[in-house]
Amino acid sequence: MATDTAGDTPNVLLVGTAKPIVVGGLDPIVRLHRLIEAPDRERFLADVAGRVRALAVTHSGNKIDPAFLQRFPKLEIVSSVGVGYDHIDAAWAGQNGIVVTNTPEVLDEEVADTALGLLLSTVRELPQAERYLRAGKWAEAPFPLSRATLRNRTVGLVGMGRIGRAIARRLDAFGVPVVYHTRRHNPAVPYRHYPALIDMARDVDTLMLILPGGPATRNLIDATVLKALGPDGIVINMARGSVVDEPALIQALKERTIFAAGLDVFVNEPHVPPELIALENVVLLPHLGSASVHTRARMDQLVVDNLACWFAGKGPVTPVPETPWPLAR
Ligand code: 8YV
Repeated sequence: MATDTAGDTPNVLLVGTAKPIVVGGLDPIVRLHRLIEAPDRERFLADVAGRVRALAVTHSGNKIDPAFLQRFPKLEIVSSVGVGYDHIDAAWAGQNGIVVTNTPEVLDEEVADTALGLLLSTVRELPQAERYLRAGKWAEAPFPLSRATLRNRTVGLVGMGRIGRAIARRLDAFGVPVVYHTRRHNPAVPYRHYPALIDMARDVDTLMLILPGGPATRNLIDATVLKALGPDGIVINMARGSVVDEPALIQALKERTIFAAGLDVFVNEPHVPPELIALENVVLLPHLGSASVHTRARMDQLVVDNLACWFAGKGPVTPVPETPWPLAR
């Protein structure tokens, strides 16, 4: 159904890369316009904007702010890949009758796996050891014993949503004590809750960040929190670069006022500060949390399913809390 001559085929704008599952799933049911491929973006937008009823957002690097959303007077729904949606002004969308959907649940276990991998890599210096072996240094001398261990650590989770709980389950199996900080205590969660992050940072030696990004959590992990964490402190960021005061973290790593960090996310992706790249006490991943073929396929399919259900009149599958369905008007 690549034509809208009957006038009832919904026009959808694809924002981001043309992922095969998204394009293959949407092409038969909508008229898909690919923003990324348009040579003259402004002229292209002026041409299609008046007809667009949905956005399919395939990369969280695309900023979907009110200025962008306002360009589409007939916009009904934004279907975005990823569980995090801080790149979209969902509150504005909700106030303006536009539904926003994300891709929760299908990625929980994958992101939790990656989080444990990053934690172990950071604590036991596994990437450094691998670099050592490849550099041919093993024959000269064994790689030094890791100064840190998981054996005497307590992990303070900052955030305790579905992915946080999947991480906590893994830490239980590793025999590592877990506590957590969230704004609200969740009585269903069997770990000690800290209402104040600073108190938790003082009591633990490892912070694992797994909370939403956006203005409410910007620079939550600042110099004060890092100081409270102390010289054995390890920070693992699986959330968003914005939740950490990046210059303060770099300073703490340089001055060894914390021990190490493992970072999957950065303030200005895909650009990583050269100061971080130069440091040996940090493990850096290129935003890999959910990045397996298996899990990304499930996320991409949920982008399609949200739009397919919407245009079939059944409502969205996974609306975000700011745009509950049916929309409160
Ligand atoms: C994705 C993520 O890499 O789900 C999220 O919020 O951060 C990742 O799993 C990203 O959203 C894809 O652009």
